[in-house]
Amino acid sequence: MKQRVLFVCLGNICRSPAAEEIFRQQVVRAGLQEQFTIDSAGTYGGHAGELADPRMRTAAASRGYFLIHRSRQIRMEDFERFDRIVVMDDYNYEAVHRLAPSREAGRKIYRMREFFGQTHYTYVPDPYYEGREGFFLVLDLLEEACACLLADMTADGESAD
Ligand code: 4NP
Repeated sequence: MKQRVLFVCLGNICRSPAAEEIFRQQVVRAGLQEQFTIDSAGTYGGHAGELADPRMRTAAASRGYFLIHRSRQIRMEDFERFDRIVVMDDYNYEAVHRLAPSREAGRKIYRMREFFGQTHYTYVPDPYYEGREGFFLVLDLLEEACACLLADMTADGESAD
């Protein structure tokens, strides 16, 4: 059965579109592209329709990730369309939880930090007001967390909740 993952941040122009593409490439490398549906969204709709932030696209492209996603706001049907909704930080985790239409829908929501390895970070920091290094930090955190997420999703198979 197809596994469906939605990555969520605030604007859907920096962190979550990068997570979407990093995870997609890892899924393709594992030969699992037929088994996954991957998308991203923001809790804030102010950038809807835009490509990812040019600073994020430049940093991502330097590692071979070409971001073509157009920003969109999370919507109610996403709680039905996706099995896991993976959120970048606590502020957006709370925002997604407030939207969840049921307890069952709420159980689909994860924090990206649950998939962090050894780092002192407890969330994926918003790079929007940061310099270039903030975008590379996001890529570093996401590359590792996406690999752990994929390992988790391929290990727990049909028992995934
Ligand atoms: P993102 O970054 O949530 O990683 O896409 C941001 C994008 C836009 C804004 C803040 C953070 N903003 O304030 O417009």
